[in-house]
Amino acid sequence: MKDRLEALRSEALAQLQEVADPGRLNDLRVHYLGKKGQLTEVLRGMGGLSAEERPVIGQVANEVRAAIEIVIQSKQAEFERADTARRLAAETIDVSLPGKAPAPGGIHPLTKVTQEIEDIFLGMGYTVAEGPEVETDYFNFEALNLPKNHPARDMQDSFYLTEEILLRTHTSPVQIRTMQGAGGKTPLKVICPGKVYRRDDDDATHSFMFHQIEGLVVGPNIRMSDLKGTLLQFVQQMYGPQVQIRLRPSFFPFTEPSAEVDVTCTQCGGHGCRMCKHTGWIEILGCGMVHPKVLEHGGYDPREVSGFAFGMGVERIALLKYDIDDIRHFYNNDLRFLSQFARM
Ligand code: DAH
Repeated sequence: MKDRLEALRSEALAQLQEVADPGRLNDLRVHYLGKKGQLTEVLRGMGGLSAEERPVIGQVANEVRAAIEIVIQSKQAEFERADTARRLAAETIDVSLPGKAPAPGGIHPLTKVTQEIEDIFLGMGYTVAEGPEVETDYFNFEALNLPKNHPARDMQDSFYLTEEILLRTHTSPVQIRTMQGAGGKTPLKVICPGKVYRRDDDDATHSFMFHQIEGLVVGPNIRMSDLKGTLLQFVQQMYGPQVQIRLRPSFFPFTEPSAEVDVTCTQCGGHGCRMCKHTGWIEILGCGMVHPKVLEHGGYDPREVSGFAFGMGVERIALLKYDIDDIRHFYNNDLRFLSQFARM
């Protein structure tokens, strides 16, 4: 019986040496040490032993069990170490890898320029007013002294929705709405930014939709010199203190007198270059003293108050500021173009 136990030990140890995975290790444990295992099987024969032999064989059996258990335990520990090492390797994080940079958006150049213009006029005490893009013929034309059949209506080829309703062709109708809303109060100082629409074919300088900013001041004793000083202040804040302006006589039905305003060329400083067609000047906006009929439509008495108004194209201001040669860049949403303004 002792021999059988010894044989069992060497057989078990030899097999355990070969074990390569935890599943097989468990099978062998059950096979040798389990309730119905080999060791139990041998010990069943103990009943037939003499009283002297029994403790001796019992001792050997215990040694065999202990020897097998030790090998099993060390194998188990070995598997656990290998498993931990494998998990550590698999779950390693390389903290030195560069992160994924978030792609922050930027403000569109037209929005940026609009905000800049607003800031300049807010600094001069103006407030910002807005009006609808779908406008009535009355506000867009009639109240601005462009009666039906007025030839100047052709200057602004319009998108009509019905006979009386159209997409506004300029931001000037907001002048009338603001005056009417003010109920005769003075002084009134507003700028009105927004989209306008014209039936133009799109090219480098035209678009069926673009942006304007209207300005309006109404009060007692408002003079043309106030208009000129305001505009000079505006362009010098926008383009730099070296920039000068000049007013050229012009015509708009809603102002009298009317003028177009030029700035010294932002490119060559007034010496003459291709951009200013060698004149040294670039036109940036239209303006004038509010026509008495327009003041009346706005609910003011032209014998008591006067006013000035101006209107500028935001795209044009932005083209000059950033030296851009095609208005369509503003609308194509090409990130190669837009991202240049993201951190400006
Ligand atoms: N509304 C004119 C346009 O779209 C621009 C303009 C000119 C506005 C003179 C004014 C102004 O307020 O006084 O061409």
